[in-house]
Amino acid sequence: MEVVIQPTAEAATMVAVRLLAGLIRQKPDAVLGLATGATPLRLYWELAALKLDWRRIKTFNLDEYVGVGPEHPQSYHSFMWKNLFNRVNIAKPNVHIPDGLAKDIPGFCKKYEKQIRTAGGIDLQLLGIGTDGHIGFNEPSSSLASRTRINMLTRQTRRDNARFFGSEERVPHHAITMGIGTILESRHCVLLAFGKRKARAVAEAIEGPVTAMHPASALQLHPKVTVFLDEPAAAELKLKHYYRRVYDYKPDWQKERPMRLLHSSILVVL
Ligand code: F6R
Repeated sequence: MEVVIQPTAEAATMVAVRLLAGLIRQKPDAVLGLATGATPLRLYWELAALKLDWRRIKTFNLDEYVGVGPEHPQSYHSFMWKNLFNRVNIAKPNVHIPDGLAKDIPGFCKKYEKQIRTAGGIDLQLLGIGTDGHIGFNEPSSSLASRTRINMLTRQTRRDNARFFGSEERVPHHAITMGIGTILESRHCVLLAFGKRKARAVAEAIEGPVTAMHPASALQLHPKVTVFLDEPAAAELKLKHYYRRVYDYKPDWQKERPMRLLHSSILVVL
């Protein structure tokens, strides 16, 4: 696992943007797994501002609230179209987001898994982390071998996401989510976490035991994981200084250098 610690969320985002942009340039038909939430917001805007060619890119989103239709302002459909897809030249049939209104949820989940396989698997899976350690909506106690399915949100997650819905009562109780097993099949997992409130969850994911009680810890089992953190999110890592040295002493050819804020105006490669 590679842990990249940057002074700010903006700086960490720009290194991640470079990684994603590099993949899209090198593999114009790449399959991307995408996350929603506050964490990847700037990444999507900056990535869109690069005006890359998305015509052959395929995307699969991690999750969607059950009972929430695509037009709902808090749906992950709305989020993705507003913050990324409407800003790039992606082909609509190449976009896949779980259907929160699916009548036959198990049937839908099976189909979603099949669509990922048919697309050739996910090249890069973007992830955020919940304060309870969830990835996707795989809450604590989720099987580390789980596949796409319906899952119930914890109180903590519903409380955390109340900021998007206006109140906790309005946050749906269920979501369709890719499973941990599904996520671990991606060829590269990229986790982003910013802010002090994520510090504990990040430390447990990277340095704690692998346990279903902390779903993100399953990433320790994956051979290729990159974690982008700002200083506050890295605060509780025991080996923080070691990760920093590993990154600083990397040979240049291995390094993802940050790009400077693009979505506003000018592109600067550092
Ligand atoms: C969203 C998702 C979730 C979020 C996590 C962090 O698609 O899969 O696991 O990544 O809840 O959310 P934010 O970024 O809002 O803190």
